[in-house]
Amino acid sequence: MTNSQQRPLRIAIIGSGPAGVYAADLLTKSAPVASGELTLSIDLFDRYPAPYGLIRYGVAPDHPRIKGIVNALHKVLDRGDIRFFGNVDYGTDLTLEDLRRHYDAVIFATGAIKDADLNIPGVELEGSFGAADFVSWYDGHPDVPREWPLDAKEIAVIGNGNVALDVARVLSKHADELLVTEIPDNVYRALTSSPVTDVHVFGRRGPAQVKFTPLELRELSHSHDVDIVLYPEDFEFDEASDREIQTNNQVKTMVGTLTNWIAEQPEDPAELTASRRLHLHFLQSPVEIVDSPETPGRVAGIRFERQELDGTGNVRGTGEFEDYPVQAVYRAIGYFGSALPGLEFDHRRGVVPNDGGRVLGADGEFVLGVYTTGWIKRGPVGLIGHTKGDALETIGHLLDAREELPAAAEPSEAAVRDLLESRGVEYTTWEGWLALDAHEKALGAAAQPAVTHKGEVARERVKVVSREEMVAISNGAAVSR
Ligand SMILES: Cc1cc2nc3c(=O)[nH]c(=O)nc-3n(C[C@H](O)[C@H](O)[C@H](O)COP(=O)(O)OP(=O)(O)OC[C@H]3O[C@@H](n4cnc5c(N)ncnc54)[C@H](O)[C@@H]3O)c2cc1C
Ligand SMILES: NC(=O)c1ccc[n+]([C@@H]2O[C@H](COP(=O)([O-])OP(=O)(O)OC[C@H]3O[C@@H](n4cnc5c(N)ncnc54)[C@H](OP(=O)(O)O)[C@@H]3O)[C@@H](O)[C@H]2O)c1
Repeated sequence: MTNSQQRPLRIAIIGSGPAGVYAADLLTKSAPVASGELTLSIDLFDRYPAPYGLIRYGVAPDHPRIKGIVNALHKVLDRGDIRFFGNVDYGTDLTLEDLRRHYDAVIFATGAIKDADLNIPGVELEGSFGAADFVSWYDGHPDVPREWPLDAKEIAVIGNGNVALDVARVLSKHADELLVTEIPDNVYRALTSSPVTDVHVFGRRGPAQVKFTPLELRELSHSHDVDIVLYPEDFEFDEASDREIQTNNQVKTMVGTLTNWIAEQPEDPAELTASRRLHLHFLQSPVEIVDSPETPGRVAGIRFERQELDGTGNVRGTGEFEDYPVQAVYRAIGYFGSALPGLEFDHRRGVVPNDGGRVLGADGEFVLGVYTTGWIKRGPVGLIGHTKGDALETIGHLLDAREELPAAAEPSEAAVRDLLESRGVEYTTWEGWLALDAHEKALGAAAQPAVTHKGEVARERVKVVSREEMVAISNGAAVSR
């Protein structure tokens, strides 16, 4: 007889980013549950006191359209059939052994929060930053320092993905334009005093090989008092580029946008009128971050090797090098997942080894009852919506195996709460998040309106940054379900 027939099937999901929430939602809406054949009891854990993962600590604050997705995820967790335990770190507060004792199945949806490594000389210099760290800072991540050194006038951003565009946009935008969003006060203050005049974004391939998307590219031109600058010599297209432009609408749109911009820009740079500029460079591969001769240990520039397209859409070095004087370098070359205690890890791809979401052990066999979804399953690429497809595949395998799952020894809902309490873990709950959410919105309503070039705009939210404060506000109103 299966567990599911005697009692609800107990499932733990680690990570309350979109992948984890979609997995929980899809499980509750699956056919065996809808038909009444199966009942479930799902607990969703996150190391942060608040839910939503990179939606809260990755998505740029000036992307309010993502709010629609947050509203949908909110509805899922607000139904009351999925318990949320925030401020619980898998690996510290709970082990795999604990989870196996309390749950019949575990889904790891832990995403990625770190930068991929860039192995070039000078990467360790002061003024060389990982984009993921900067993003965490401007999104008010509880575990990063509150101060960020915004003292550079000229900045290089390496990479041609959407994160590079986010970082370049936030660095070049005037702070008051961001004040209408949910940026924390410390971030606004630091951005206000930034002396930046020029942000240079460098892609190692051509305009037809960019990884960013049309909407995000066009958005660059919406920043007030920021001119976009392009370089005609970068507009190289090989056979593969032409094929992409003809067959891929997204590429065609982006190349169209870039070529329109270049046609519209004044030939004489002196005719640019904005106080800040955002430069887009292509076919430049970074080879060294240059140390300052005057202040050794500090970034004084960045050296690139010019690239040429090789006919396949890839590039090769030309042997020509160019230095750009910059005082800060942001490396936006992709995120990378972190190993999870008790599970194998693919150090090359930064994922938990799996087959369609079924976690694999060192012997290459399935680890019974252990699953994965989202970025930690397939790598740090793709939009929020893509994690739904991931979750569907993973929960399909879990449900197919429901008769063979290793039964939990202590499956009661109370047992895991007791365990956390016995360990002194100050976990937060869904009701706690509702309290924190309301608190942040109230801070926004009480704050001075932002004065932008469009006039005064109310602030929608002011994020609470400190973990202690987040937990205190959450737990002040917490009522366990
Ligand atoms: C800077 C940035 C901006 C982005 N902007 C957009 C955008 O505008 N639109 C869009 O569609 N997509 C955007 N994306 C992509 C989107 O964020 C991802 O597709 C999505 O968040 C991946 O979901 P996930 O649930 O796999 O991972 P995550 O969102 O990273 O969630 C993982 C969760 O697991 C938790 N966790 C990790 N380790 C542990 C542990 N040991 N114990 C407990 N919990 C743990 C984390 O705290 C986190 O909450 C952006 C990505 C980045 C990096
Ligand atoms: N607004 C949004 O919708 C939004 C915002 C942010 C992120 N996201 C999504 O989140 C995912 C991750 O984004 P991402 O920007 O981190 O990653 P990404 O899309 O994979 O882009 C990484 C970029 O870094 C470049 N790169 C990698 N290694 C490099 C090196 N050694 N030297 C120079 N350049 C290097 C890549 O160039 P090559 O192509 O040549 O490898 C690519 O241009 C993407 O799917 C993205 O769309 C979405």
